[in-house]
Amino acid sequence: MRRACRRAGDARLSVKMLSAISFVLWSLALVSCVRGENPAVQLALTDKGLQTVRHFAAGVIQDTLSELELPEVSGHIMGVHYFLSGMKVTKLDFPEPEVHFCPLSSGLKLSVIGLSVALTGDWRTHVGFIYDQGTFNLAVFDLSLNSVLGLDMDSSGRLSVSSVSCYTDIQSVDMHFYGGASWVFQWLVTFFQDHIRDRIQNKICPCVDSAIEGLERYLQALNVSVDVNSVMDLDLPLTDPPTVDSDSVNFGLKGEFYCRECHKDPPFVAPSFFLPVHSDYMLSVGVSEYSVNSASFAYYISGHLQALVNDSMIPPYCPIRLNTTSMGRFIPQLVQLFPDLLMVLQVYARQTPMFSFESGFVKLDLNSAVKAFVVQANKTLTPIFKLHVDSALRGKMWVDSEKVKSSVKMDNFTLSLASTEIGPFQTDKLESIAKVGAGKAVDMLNKYLAKGFDLPQTRCAQLLNSVLSVEEGFIVFYSDAKFQSPF
Ligand SMILES: *[C@@H]1O[C@H](CO)[C@@H](O)[C@H](O)[C@H]1NC(C)=O
Ligand SMILES: *[C@@H]1O[C@H](CO)[C@@H](O)[C@H](O)[C@H]1NC(C)=O
Ligand SMILES: *[C@@H]1O[C@H](CO)[C@@H](O)[C@H](O)[C@H]1NC(C)=O
Ligand SMILES: *[C@@H]1O[C@H](CO)[C@@H](O)[C@H](O)[C@H]1NC(C)=O
Ligand SMILES: *[C@@H]1O[C@H](CO)[C@@H](O)[C@H](O)[C@H]1NC(C)=O
Repeated sequence: MRRACRRAGDARLSVKMLSAISFVLWSLALVSCVRGENPAVQLALTDKGLQTVRHFAAGVIQDTLSELELPEVSGHIMGVHYFLSGMKVTKLDFPEPEVHFCPLSSGLKLSVIGLSVALTGDWRTHVGFIYDQGTFNLAVFDLSLNSVLGLDMDSSGRLSVSSVSCYTDIQSVDMHFYGGASWVFQWLVTFFQDHIRDRIQNKICPCVDSAIEGLERYLQALNVSVDVNSVMDLDLPLTDPPTVDSDSVNFGLKGEFYCRECHKDPPFVAPSFFLPVHSDYMLSVGVSEYSVNSASFAYYISGHLQALVNDSMIPPYCPIRLNTTSMGRFIPQLVQLFPDLLMVLQVYARQTPMFSFESGFVKLDLNSAVKAFVVQANKTLTPIFKLHVDSALRGKMWVDSEKVKSSVKMDNFTLSLASTEIGPFQTDKLESIAKVGAGKAVDMLNKYLAKGFDLPQTRCAQLLNSVLSVEEGFIVFYSDAKFQSPF
């Protein structure tokens, strides 16, 4: 039985159940371990979510139990050696287990009440040199199980589970032997029934514990860092042990993006935020400004927020070209100093572009610089001036058909001369033309954003009925999910 439950527990049951639980942890999947930080991502599983996971898991357990191959059982009772083999479940009455949040033990309380199961199998006995064999029917009535699963965090920020308590009871066992000289042993049946009942009863909690150990091993093997793209990873260890209250469990995750090459912490700290939990949805997920800004910082520090722009990158329909003749309309001295030469612009962020979440909208402050060079006939680049371009974008975000969509508009755009190698010049005309260009870029961006981004999905869970709202300092995302077996 131990072998069977190991097999069932580790290999299939716990993997399937875990896919449901790991979904909870990795559902954001967009997304070093220092204690005492505020989580930048919070995830709450509500009772509705828990009941859905339970319903899914019950189906998996039912399927697993009915296909369960029971190992041979042997023992002896009153001088009779017995072997029970080839046992098969013929009928299973598996009431849906109940699962509740258990704040007292900081975990989940699981109970199964009134499980009944009927088995058939073969028996063999020997007493001294007398061997005999036949078949048997076994019915187990009203098995109940109460187990408390504790949720905690280990030193590396992984979710850790343990068995806090386990209790089982079997009301009665009914057993009939057929074939052989079974009547010879019929007198043993009464003793045998109690004996088998105790044996089954004593095996159940070790089975539950071993399934929980399997779960724990699975969790220990999970990577708390997710590979996001070629630039950055997302660190998702827990920052605190999960908090369990009567109608939800809340996981606080670090939720920091970091540049893989430099692995540098952003120069700002994660503020705390309170995740509002909506009991009508299975999941509530909050992502703070910090998480998004850490991604922005990772791009910035890894040198990805810069570009070299040359004339061939300017759309052909654009009347303004990147050469001194064309730019001479705005900067008269260029024409005399560098007649008819091509120019290149080095555009870069002067500091980390910062997002801020305000009730109903997202703001982005972009402070960039543009360094202009003239391309000499011998290809050397001669610096001519540097501009500061500061802009602010304001956007809305929503979820439509399980895609995150957004739209942005330019809030502010200013351009000023930061330094010049060719003497001062007026920037107003340049600013107006740049504003038009930036407006065109925002239109293109909006076309792209309107297509939306798919919500993260995992192989075994699909998000449904998702809504998103932008709050002061964080965005919160409410969703239901549909589970499917990964097998
Ligand atoms: C965890 O993920 C990170 C980033 O994707 C990777 O660098 C690291 O090797 C992984 N660790 C393990 C044990 O898989
Ligand atoms: C402009 O830059 C692109 C990309 O860096 C490059 O392929 C192209 O040759 C450049 N054009 C000129 C005229 O320098
Ligand atoms: C510069 O742009 C003007 C159009 O504004 C074009 O007539 C001229 O040929 C360009 N010069 C170079 C060097 O590309
Ligand atoms: C390239 O040409 C410029 C302007 O004619 C000159 O000042 C510079 O020294 C030249 N550089 C090289 C490496 O020849
Ligand atoms: C736009 O930016 C300028 C300069 O930073 C600032 O003075 C102005 O208040 C900003 N306007 C808005 C509407 O934010």
